[in-house]
Amino acid sequence: MSHAKRSSFSGKIGFVLAAAGSAVGLGNIWRFPYLAAKYGGGIFLLVYLILAVTFGFALMCGEIALGRKTGKSAIEAFGALNKKYAFVGVLASVVPMLILPYYSVIGGWVAKYLFVFSTGAIKQSAQDTFFTDFITKPFEPVGWFLLFIAVTAIIVLFGVEKGIEKVSKIMMPILIVLTIGIAIYVLFLPGAIDGLIYYVKPDFSKFSATTVLAAMGQLFYSMSLAMGIMITYGSYMKKEVSINSSVKQIEFFDTGIAFLAGLMIIPAVFSFSGGDEAALGKGPSLMFITLPKVFNSINGVGGTIVGIAFFVLVLFAALTSSISLMETVVSIFRDKFGWGRKFTCIVVALGSIALGLPSSLGFGVWSNFSLQGGNITILDMFDIFSNNILMPIVAFLTCIFIGYVIKPQTLVDEIESDGKAFKRKGLFTVMIKYIAPICIVLILVSSVLDVLGIAKI
Ligand code: PHE
Repeated sequence: MSHAKRSSFSGKIGFVLAAAGSAVGLGNIWRFPYLAAKYGGGIFLLVYLILAVTFGFALMCGEIALGRKTGKSAIEAFGALNKKYAFVGVLASVVPMLILPYYSVIGGWVAKYLFVFSTGAIKQSAQDTFFTDFITKPFEPVGWFLLFIAVTAIIVLFGVEKGIEKVSKIMMPILIVLTIGIAIYVLFLPGAIDGLIYYVKPDFSKFSATTVLAAMGQLFYSMSLAMGIMITYGSYMKKEVSINSSVKQIEFFDTGIAFLAGLMIIPAVFSFSGGDEAALGKGPSLMFITLPKVFNSINGVGGTIVGIAFFVLVLFAALTSSISLMETVVSIFRDKFGWGRKFTCIVVALGSIALGLPSSLGFGVWSNFSLQGGNITILDMFDIFSNNILMPIVAFLTCIFIGYVIKPQTLVDEIESDGKAFKRKGLFTVMIKYIAPICIVLILVSSVLDVLGIAKI
């Protein structure tokens, strides 16, 4: 192990923006609006909000405190407090290693779209087959993927304060301004108000247990929980910075951007489709097929400008998330083997390229490697395994570890090390010991059933 001083964020703002940068990602922009629309609009928003300030708050405080207390990345943090549970750290470390490669493939697609819009080829991007033609090519998507990984690696190479913190301080404010700007612009498009109403008005008939499960699953992913990221970022946090208030701010950012993303996407799609909800689609088709059409339908240069602004913001969201993933993996290797930052970055970038290539090629030359007759591609397999299976397992074990092995008080002491009493101590303890583990088991069961194709949530 190296004895070099551990790097750190310069202060609270740097920490909050970097952690919010990790949390605000593709999930906020394309997944949240879609889920909110599907599960009853306002009622989904309400459930999500309640879960964020209880369940999400407790888990995020726990992970950050675990990282700061031990000063270690995911792989060593658990073992440092109890040797028998070192395996949880190993499991948690596998998650970002699996996500980074395919997340970067999608990041590459975003970069390509930004390029296309910047060259003014908006009409071309709105054609039905544009997206499929692009992702099925053997070389071009790989090129964009390599570029995305390279940019991520260069930022991580510069380190915590000079790389990650600096970039987050620039990208996050731009992202916020663009999101608000586009949302306002979109609300003035004809027919947009119907979309707004559809998005925020509660539809109680769509409320069910699956609404809660869907909101919880989204919360996990959106707050970058159960993948070692918050442990790693916590290990770079100075002792005098308040964990309690930082987490509140990170949640505010994450939920705020998700909500605003819905405000820009749903009314825009409604305006374009004449109020047809089906146009909201799901997953990649919304961002890469429907939205370019929506932008193309805006008269004059407005469409190109909104399109460029939109893809800049998505690219920033994706980059700050991929940076957090890569930093987590880099810190795991550095803690484990004592390697230097530069060497580790190169190793991690090359490893991610090797793991990401199949995901990219899985849409074209390797499309035979798929399940359900092409419905589940290699990229989906990475996604399902890491998000639906591994993450809930890690989250469950983390709760058991904090709740019953080291005991919540250990982390409450860490949270209170800034000198202030932790007011939500009771909530934290009850969540971590009882409520969160039960909810997580439910998520796991429903995802496993989903994966097995027995039931659909
Ligand atoms: N939290 C990110 C989002 O909402 C997703 C993410 C996944 C970030 C993995 C980092 C790592 O999109």
